[in-house]
Amino acid sequence: MKYILALDQGTTSSRAILFDREGQIQGMASQELNQIYPKSGWVEHDAMEIWNSQLDVAREVLREKQIEATDIAAIGITNQRETTVLWDRKTGQPLHNAIVWQDRRTAGFCDYLRQQGHAGLIAKKTGLVIDAYFSGTKLRWLLDNVPEARKRADRGELAFGTIDSWLLWNLSDGRLHITDFSNAARTMLFNLETLAWDDELLGLLDIPASVLPEVHPSSFVFGESASDLFGHPVPLAGCAGDQHAALFGQNCTRHGMAKNTYGTGCFVLMNIGNEPIVSKCKLLTTIACSNRDQPEFALEGSIFTAGSAVQWLRDGLGIIEASGEVQSLAASVPDSGDCYLVPAFAGLGAPHWDPYARGVIVGISGGTTAAHVARATLESIAFQVADVLDAMCTDGGMAVKELRVDGGASVNDLLMQFQADLLQVPVVRPRVVETTSLGAAFLAGLAVGFWNGIDEVERIWQSERTFEPVMSQAEVGERRGRWQEAVQRSMGWQK
Ligand code: G3P
Repeated sequence: MKYILALDQGTTSSRAILFDREGQIQGMASQELNQIYPKSGWVEHDAMEIWNSQLDVAREVLREKQIEATDIAAIGITNQRETTVLWDRKTGQPLHNAIVWQDRRTAGFCDYLRQQGHAGLIAKKTGLVIDAYFSGTKLRWLLDNVPEARKRADRGELAFGTIDSWLLWNLSDGRLHITDFSNAARTMLFNLETLAWDDELLGLLDIPASVLPEVHPSSFVFGESASDLFGHPVPLAGCAGDQHAALFGQNCTRHGMAKNTYGTGCFVLMNIGNEPIVSKCKLLTTIACSNRDQPEFALEGSIFTAGSAVQWLRDGLGIIEASGEVQSLAASVPDSGDCYLVPAFAGLGAPHWDPYARGVIVGISGGTTAAHVARATLESIAFQVADVLDAMCTDGGMAVKELRVDGGASVNDLLMQFQADLLQVPVVRPRVVETTSLGAAFLAGLAVGFWNGIDEVERIWQSERTFEPVMSQAEVGERRGRWQEAVQRSMGWQK
């Protein structure tokens, strides 16, 4: 068999990518996903649209490349994390739209949990800070707000899942109700030490165990696809949350190796080996994908607004027509003219975790132009990543040697150079920047023996370009100090 099919179900699109044995992309199909905003701070997806679009793109890529299902050694799944679906086990119908990771509807309940003094317990057990971002409080909201849901859940009629579970359920025609360690670790219900659902946390959030999926390692033969979907059953053998898959796809499989994905938000993850350190700097501890026997862990800094700030320049301010224009506009001025933009549009994630922060632009003078604002926007992405990496190095007790980068905005050379300058370490961009899908393909391929071990997949990863720092340390210090002042101005704005 010649290929691995990676299914990447992201926040804004469903994609299918076909990889060959050399890890090269042989085909790709993609469909956009509708975003539903029922109220301010609420974000939903139609779960059936998620499944149908994912199936469509998988079939499309096989059809276009004229590939039979018998040529596919395995399917690997990777997904937007935390997004929560509750469905009927008998009909397979969702009871409600999926509640998306960005949705803030449970912020009040999270405040309550914090006031009740549960932050320490939750951090110790799950590695997470209490935040509406994670699935647990979203699931509780569904059980409490969808008519009859709680009663039906108690009768064992309902299934909960993050998007990976939802896809695996549908791919197997309802035979599999499972998730993997990396996705389970984002629910606020999963214990990092025991690697199992935690009864005390289930009690605290009032979640019946009957709705939960089985949990398996990320590189594992879960089962196979229903035979009518692709004309022949295909092993379902890899599954990981997108940021975990990207860490694996970037070959950050050793202690201290870190990656950042520049997407809608930014997600910085660093492999911390076999011990789940509890962060002192408000970072998350999470499970890293591995095909070794012992579990591995990662520190994560989740930044909620990054690429979406560039979209705001296009859709909100109208100073660019396409996102790709931001680089040339920003490069038309030598610097931001002492203008700083903090894109706290949906609050601030790591390391501040302030849901009440809002965006600010400071330092505007009569000479400030659209180009300065564009440059400040790009720079804000790199400043946020630098803040997270500083916190990571403090927690991990070591300096990173380099940052591996991927995701849409990693093609932006100006941004990558500025990132290297701020970090004062090299920023390395790989040849295949689709590392999320590549990671899912690696996990699936390793589970079925398509690749023979970690050494073989490590050889596939190759760097395309390294950005070396050129800015002086004094200038970096001054710029980062100004940025911190701007961040302080954005915090607590909506309280
Ligand atoms: O935690 C949310 C993250 O997994 C979303 O990633 O790439 O779909 O924006 P993305």
